[in-house]
Amino acid sequence: MKPFQDFDSDFNNGVGKAERKPLSGKQALVIGGTGGIGKETALLLAGAGARITLHGGSSQERLARVLEAIHEREGEADGFLCRIDGVEAIDRIFSEYSSCAARAAYISRHERFISGVSHYPDILVYAYGPFKRGALDKTDAVDWQFLIQQNLAFPGCAVSRVLPSMLERKWGRILLFGGTNTDDIRGFVTTAAYSAAKTGLGVLAKSVAKAAGGVGVTCNVICPGLTDTEYTDETARAYNRAKSPPGKALSPKMVALTAMYVLANRSINGAIIPVDDGIVV
Ligand SMILES: NC(=O)c1ccc[n+]([C@@H]2O[C@H](COP(=O)([O-])OP(=O)(O)OC[C@H]3O[C@@H](n4cnc5c(N)ncnc54)[C@H](OP(=O)(O)O)[C@@H]3O)[C@@H](O)[C@H]2O)c1
Repeated sequence: MKPFQDFDSDFNNGVGKAERKPLSGKQALVIGGTGGIGKETALLLAGAGARITLHGGSSQERLARVLEAIHEREGEADGFLCRIDGVEAIDRIFSEYSSCAARAAYISRHERFISGVSHYPDILVYAYGPFKRGALDKTDAVDWQFLIQQNLAFPGCAVSRVLPSMLERKWGRILLFGGTNTDDIRGFVTTAAYSAAKTGLGVLAKSVAKAAGGVGVTCNVICPGLTDTEYTDETARAYNRAKSPPGKALSPKMVALTAMYVLANRSINGAIIPVDDGIVV
């Protein structure tokens, strides 16, 4: 299968068949798109023709590197950095997105693929999701607030922001990332707060599917297994190897390939999909 196979006849907005890539004309915002699983998903989305706005946390170097990789492959992308440390960061992210989209529309105004400026993307991938271990009886209020905000409330705010414009356009794709084994209600010895938040994303996805599935807006959650990224240190790599059933961790690209399959298929909606080699943590 190609990294992006078009299952969805309404992807192309009337773009001529010869120059058609499945996501030509679509704008994607990838939150946490400068590293790890978000980066690989952004690269595949760009390859499928979407115009990408990358969000990263603090590394200008990583942002520049991913932009360069997309441009080298003749994809269209820009991006910005914004640390997500409070509710106002969500406002900043959409205001930065809107400026990027406006600039892109200005630059491309003579091209036929971009017909107008929308302040919200057609595709939202919310990848950033910080992890912190801690036994339940040792998790304090600060950790609870941090983990629930970052992994449930902020993705929830972002979904609420993009939903009205997706409903109006009658087209939208939202992809969220859960945690390992958070595709069902389970107990966790050292990650109860993180996993509770990630399990909650399933309610979010199913709520979008219920409210908007009929008009072509999808929202799904992928729950990756242990995945080595550029952020994974040697101790974590050894743990990931030991715990993963095949004796090696997943690569971000493997998770991103499933992400593309899900984004391509309008019939997958409200799904919570483990991509985890059958791990039980
Ligand atoms: N990796 C795994 O083993 C694993 C397993 C299960 C689930 N997941 C889930 O999968 C998703 C992707 O995980 P990942 O490990 O690939 O990457 P991640 O560490 O969750 O995200 C990396 C991205 O987030 C940005 N970022 C980092 N700190 C930030 C902050 N304070 N504010 C705003 N942005 C920030 C990074 O930018 P900079 O580089 O500039 O900091 C980068 O773009 C997450 O939701 C995670 O919970 C991961």
